[in-house]
Amino acid sequence: MKNKILVTGGAGYIGSHTCIALHEAGYDIVVYDNLSNSSREAINRVSTLIGQSIEFIKGDTRDAEMLKQIFVAHQFFAVIHFAGLKAVGESVAKPLLYYNNNVSGSITLLEVMAEYNVKNLIFSSSATVYGDPETLPIDENSKRSCTNPYGQSKLAVEHILEDLSVSDQSWNLISLRYFNPVGSHPSGQIGEDPNDIPNNLMPYISQVAVGKLEKLSIFGNDYPTVDGTGVRDFIHVTDLAQGHVSALNYLEQQASSKSSSDTTSSVGFLPINLGTGKGTSVLELVSTFAKVSKQPIPYQFVARRAGDVASCYASADKAKALLGWQAKLSITDMCQDTWHWQSMNPNGYNET
Ligand code: NAD
Ligand code: WQD
Repeated sequence: MKNKILVTGGAGYIGSHTCIALHEAGYDIVVYDNLSNSSREAINRVSTLIGQSIEFIKGDTRDAEMLKQIFVAHQFFAVIHFAGLKAVGESVAKPLLYYNNNVSGSITLLEVMAEYNVKNLIFSSSATVYGDPETLPIDENSKRSCTNPYGQSKLAVEHILEDLSVSDQSWNLISLRYFNPVGSHPSGQIGEDPNDIPNNLMPYISQVAVGKLEKLSIFGNDYPTVDGTGVRDFIHVTDLAQGHVSALNYLEQQASSKSSSDTTSSVGFLPINLGTGKGTSVLELVSTFAKVSKQPIPYQFVARRAGDVASCYASADKAKALLGWQAKLSITDMCQDTWHWQSMNPNGYNET
């Protein structure tokens, strides 16, 4: 058995897919999630898919006492920290909730990690930290700026991690900046299950295809892009999950290459983009989804959405050079797997 990993937010969309990838790579995992945006059913299904039950603890990252009990009970090599709230619009309406959950939750987790001398962390950051990019593709040295509390909370945690790495060089802190995660596990058993009406494009399209929503509103057709609609770097969630395994392997290599007397870190704070490096427009995604699902996707053009940028796609070179990771799956795979999940689970994890 390989190292033991604590996965906060492991019941959520990206976390549940990553649990499978970690298990397949031989890691022993403990999932910690308050289920504020996920369901126990996701964990049950992951357990079925991997053929063994996952150790799941319901709890909040702001609960230091509960975290301490878990660190006493387990010897972790690293923490993968997915737990956080992620709805941009909600963050504008409830900034204190977002700063408290995402920033205070991360600080509490880091304090407990420090107390138990677990100093390897993989943090879920976002391309949102780049705001409106000055140049494309976006590399990790690009200027960071955010316009909403959700993005600010991710940026704030990155700053905390940077400061921590300066204060104590034994920390190894990888910040993975995800671009636009979409798709589902090929089994169709787990996937993205948004509460209420989806804010993001792919779940909206798939709910139109399955007949739950009437038509898609495309926010703007006058951007300076290939067809006037927004361009994003969509990445399959199973590729993204694999990126976490590669990041973990990197931390292990760094740990094993250090001599036992060397308490300084060779990782420090390390931001890495996880994207494909390719941009796809909203209309291109809609037409691929219609083709693979063989369903009509009615749409209308409406005004631009406040805060949206025209184009956003990654330079994925650093992930390839340092982690040996690159995305493999295509836009067609992303649409096929999303449709598989959506058509098998029209109401998500909720059976009714
Ligand atoms: P998700 O909402 O499906 O998963 C997050 C999980 O964290 C949920 O299961 C939720 O119940 C849990 N959680 C939230 N706050 C918690 C807390 N205080 N304590 C314990 N558990 C808590 O979201 P996701 O799409 O899987 O995203 C995972 C991470 O990746 C998030 O941090 C998100 O901000 C980040 N991210 C997501 C995207 C995206 O488009 N999905 C893009 C970039 C970054
Ligand atoms: C993609 C494109 C929309 C919905 C968001 C967060 C970001 C990150 C990923 C967490 C844009 C258009 C969308 C719709 C549309 N999350 N669109 N009609 O905005 O790139 O990124 O999710 O970190 O922080 O901001 O993703 O899927 O919302 O939008 O036309 O109903 O689809 O205008 O061009 P976005 P998205």
